Amino acid sequence: MFTLTTMALRTSKNFVFKSAKIRYLSVLGIETSCDDTGIALLNENGEVLGNVLNSQQKFHTRYGGIIPPRAQDLHRARIAEVFEHCMQEAKMTPDMLDAVGVTTRPGLPLSLLVGARFAKHIARKYKKPLVPIHHMEAHALQARMEQNIPFPFLCLLISGGHSQLVFVRSATQFLLLGESLDDAPGEAFDKIARRLRLFLIPKYCYWNGGQAVEDAAKDAKNPARFEFPLPLARERNCNFSFAGIKNNAFRNIRAAERQEGTPPDGIIYNYHDFCAGLLAAVSRHLMNRTQRALEFTLPWFGDAPRSLVVSGGVANNDYIFNDLAHLAEHYNSRAYRPSKKYCSDNGVMIAWNAIEQIKHNRSCMRWDYDAVSIHGKAALGVSKLDAVTEAAIKCKWVQASKWRGAQSALKVTQ
Ligand code: KG4
Ligand code: ZN
Repeated sequence: MFTLTTMALRTSKNFVFKSAKIRYLSVLGIETSCDDTGIALLNENGEVLGNVLNSQQKFHTRYGGIIPPRAQDLHRARIAEVFEHCMQEAKMTPDMLDAVGVTTRPGLPLSLLVGARFAKHIARKYKKPLVPIHHMEAHALQARMEQNIPFPFLCLLISGGHSQLVFVRSATQFLLLGESLDDAPGEAFDKIARRLRLFLIPKYCYWNGGQAVEDAAKDAKNPARFEFPLPLARERNCNFSFAGIKNNAFRNIRAAERQEGTPPDGIIYNYHDFCAGLLAAVSRHLMNRTQRALEFTLPWFGDAPRSLVVSGGVANNDYIFNDLAHLAEHYNSRAYRPSKKYCSDNGVMIAWNAIEQIKHNRSCMRWDYDAVSIHGKAALGVSKLDAVTEAAIKCKWVQASKWRGAQSALKVTQ
C-alpha cells in the first residue's frame, strides 16, 4: 500500500485525495520517555490527524523535580485515555493504523516501559507492526515534518536530558560530533530556576525553568551584573559542559542572598539581570560549539545547502535560536527549528520519525514484539568525537546577535 501511495503521490497529489482505493499511510506515535504522555496520529505527508499531550509538569514542580516511580504511575493512569482522545480527534479506529511508533530509548526506564507495553498491547490487539524509536533521533528529524529541509544537515539537540551536535546524513545515519560532559542545558535552567525560586512568582509557578529564565531575562537592565564562566573555552572540540555555569550560578545566588538578606521564601532583587546573564552565557557556549561543528562539517556538505537544525525543549528559546540563526547566516547557512509546540516532547515527533524510517526502509517495522526492548541509555549515531578533537579547529568566534552587554560578563576571554 505504501508503494502505491508513493507512486500516486509522484503522479498527482489531487489524484491521491480523490482516489477511493489509495490512502495515505497512517502511523501512531507514543512518547513516554520522561514526564509527558504524548500520543499522535499522522499520515505520511506529516498531516497531524490527532495529537494529545498530557504533561505531568504541574505535579512534578510541586516536588522540585521528577520522581521516576510517580512519573510511571501517572503515565499508567493516563495513557489509555490519551490514546482514546487521540483516536477520537483523528476520527479513526485502531484497525485503520498502518504502524505504531514508540519511544524505546533513551529515557527514564520506568516511563519508557509504560509506553512500550501499551504500544505492544495495541500492536498485538490490532495486528500492527511496531517501529521502535530513538527519542533524540525523533527530535532531530521533527523539523522536516513542517519544512523542506533536505539531508544532510547539522543538528543541535538541546533538551532537559541532552546536549548533542550531530551530522544527519539520512533518516537513519547520524554522526555524533559533540555531547555534554555533564549536565544538559535544560537541566541547568531547571535547577538554577528552582534555586533562584522563580516558582514563587505566580506567573512562573508551573512553567519549566528554561521558559521562566527566558521570560525573566526580558526585563533585564544590566545583563552584565552577574558573572558566568565560558565552559571548555580551551578545549578545541564540540563537547558541552553546563555544570560549571550551574555551580557558578548557585554561588552567585548565595552571595546575592547573603548581601541582600533575602528570606527563605524570597528572590534576589536583580533576578532579571541574573537570568539575562545566564541566558547569554548558555547561548554563547552553544554558539561556539556549534560554530566549530559547522567548520568541521563544511567539507561534508559539499555543494548541498548548509542547514542547521535546532531541536529539543531548549530550542523553544528565542534568544538562543536567534543567536544560532545569526551564526548560521555567517556561514551562508540557514537555521531551522520545529514549531514551538513540537520542540518539546510530544507524540507527533515519534509518529513522524516512524514515517521517516518506514519511507527509508520498511524493515524497521517489527512483528517480533517480545524482542522490542527499552533502553534507559542509548548512544546517538556513530561517534566522530575523536575526529573532531584531532582536528582541533581554531575558530574566530562569530559575535552574539544581541544583548552584547552580557558578553562582557564572561570571565574567560575567548
Ligand atoms: O525536549 P524536552 O521537552 O524534554 C527532554 O527530552 O528533556 O525538553 C525539556 C527541557 C526542560 O529542561 C526545559 O527547561 C527546557 O526544555 N525548555 C526551555 C524552554 N522551554 C523548555 N529552555 C530554555 N528556554 C525555553 N523557552
Ligand atoms: Zn526530548
